[in-house]
Amino acid sequence: MRSMSLLREITPKLKGFCVSAQDTGLHRCAGQIMAEIEQGLEKHYKEVLSVSSADSHRMGLKPITFTRQVLAACFYPSLLNDESIPLDARERAQRILGECEGGSIGSYTAERGIKKIQASICKFITKRDGVVSDPENIYITNGSQASLIIVLKLLVQSEGSLKTGVLTPVPSHSTFSMAVAAQGGLVVPYYLREEQGWAVQLEELRRALHTARGQCNPTMLYVINPGSPTGHVQSKDSIAEVIRFAAEERLFLMVDEGHQDNVYGKGIEFYSYRRVLYEMGPPFSSTVELASFNSISKSVIGECGLRGGYLELVNLDPLVIPYIYRFISMNFLFLMFCKAALRQCSLL
Ligand SMILES: Cc1ncc(COP(=O)(O)O)c(C=O)c1O
Repeated sequence: MRSMSLLREITPKLKGFCVSAQDTGLHRCAGQIMAEIEQGLEKHYKEVLSVSSADSHRMGLKPITFTRQVLAACFYPSLLNDESIPLDARERAQRILGECEGGSIGSYTAERGIKKIQASICKFITKRDGVVSDPENIYITNGSQASLIIVLKLLVQSEGSLKTGVLTPVPSHSTFSMAVAAQGGLVVPYYLREEQGWAVQLEELRRALHTARGQCNPTMLYVINPGSPTGHVQSKDSIAEVIRFAAEERLFLMVDEGHQDNVYGKGIEFYSYRRVLYEMGPPFSSTVELASFNSISKSVIGECGLRGGYLELVNLDPLVIPYIYRFISMNFLFLMFCKAALRQCSLL
């Protein structure tokens, strides 16, 4: 009896969302194939690899030794004097511990992360884009999904006459759509098509936006570049086109750039939205609001289990910043932000 009353109490936002048909269909199909293999059915392959979560360690990628050595020495400082660990790894661990309260990885860190690690992220972004990145815009998080949820929590309105609509690529990873629904927003799909090389098409963005108006208030555009799961890498011109569209339609750009080192193919180069935005100059460079996400889960590090990443906010109204601080210092988000030092160490 008690559990029935509890069930009634569960928030409708949570009850309302479901795992995408695409995901459940894929898992069902994989399960069926594996059962058939076990029963001895003849196939021209012997196993099914589950790559849908893009977890490269699960698929056998070996961890980068240096990262693990630094982490090991941070966790067990006696290793700082152990010559079986290379000097550069020990020195890095020493520098990290020097930045931790009480010299221990076990202490809480500042809301936006360990300052030195924030500075190191800025150095990386500045070198990548050729435009100086400000540490004040960097928020270290527990991975891209946590960063996305933070931005959604901040901007999605679920009350009032019209819900916030978030333009979302299809196909993409289903956790994002679930996160939008869980915040009470509405997913507005825009379709990427294989016959168009999975490229983002401006006409399709326009179609999605105009269809959504009236049903919701579309104010956010989510882009994944390089695409996941498509692998498509947007050209500089395509990015500029999307930025112009966001400016015209006053959309907040959420750009998931976690796969930026997963770029293969002759002559293909990754351009960050931030870089293109600054290269476009005013008024775009000073007005278009952008959140860029990066993570240690992807590319060569592939440390999904460590849960680490950062969020960079560009051109946010300064009046909004105090609300972000208020928001991240609220207890329920304590875990979402950077309290665990472990995952930050691999970002240095
Ligand atoms: C585009 C994209 N963003 C974010 C994530 C999740 O990243 P994280 O592990 O940092 O939460 C994934 C996972 O596959 C992804 O493909």
